[in-house]
Amino acid sequence: MENQQKERRDFIGMALGATALVGIGGGLGFAAKRTWDPLPSVKAAGFTTIDLSTAKPNELVVEKWRGKPIFILKKTAEMEANDRDLVIGTDRFHMSIGLCTHLGCIPAYKKDTHVFFCACHGGVFDASGINEPGLPPPSPLEIPPFKIAGTKITLGEEGPEYKQMMAAGLTV
Ligand code: FES
Repeated sequence: MENQQKERRDFIGMALGATALVGIGGGLGFAAKRTWDPLPSVKAAGFTTIDLSTAKPNELVVEKWRGKPIFILKKTAEMEANDRDLVIGTDRFHMSIGLCTHLGCIPAYKKDTHVFFCACHGGVFDASGINEPGLPPPSPLEIPPFKIAGTKITLGEEGPEYKQMMAAGLTV
């Protein structure tokens, strides 16, 4: 328990450190910390279960799974649907590994324009994690293995929705 808390503190510290490095100021640092507070989650042996029932539209949540940041974004009704979305009841979520597919920086979510912006070399991904053509990232944000059960997802397990996405070539 102590270790998990320390791990989480270290991760948040690391994520905020990275934010500072890419030049976002202290005021934004607070906003990032606030929106990056994780949803209730349970971690066990490589699996992380996250309850999405309290997620708010257009508020990015960053979880951690196997040492990687995981982006979870509940889409608003106005946001375009995509076959990469996780559909839970009537809600749609974008969920991906929060590492830029160019050289691995952690992109920041811009709430006003609904894009993930990678400050390292100017990469842009839309709210479905699709990379904007003509910019350095060569591919969309990667979708990690997941399994849906009710309002919960378990990262690290391959559920039917994930297998379907993978077969369609949508996870990368
Ligand atoms: Fe993201 Fe280069 S690492 S654009």
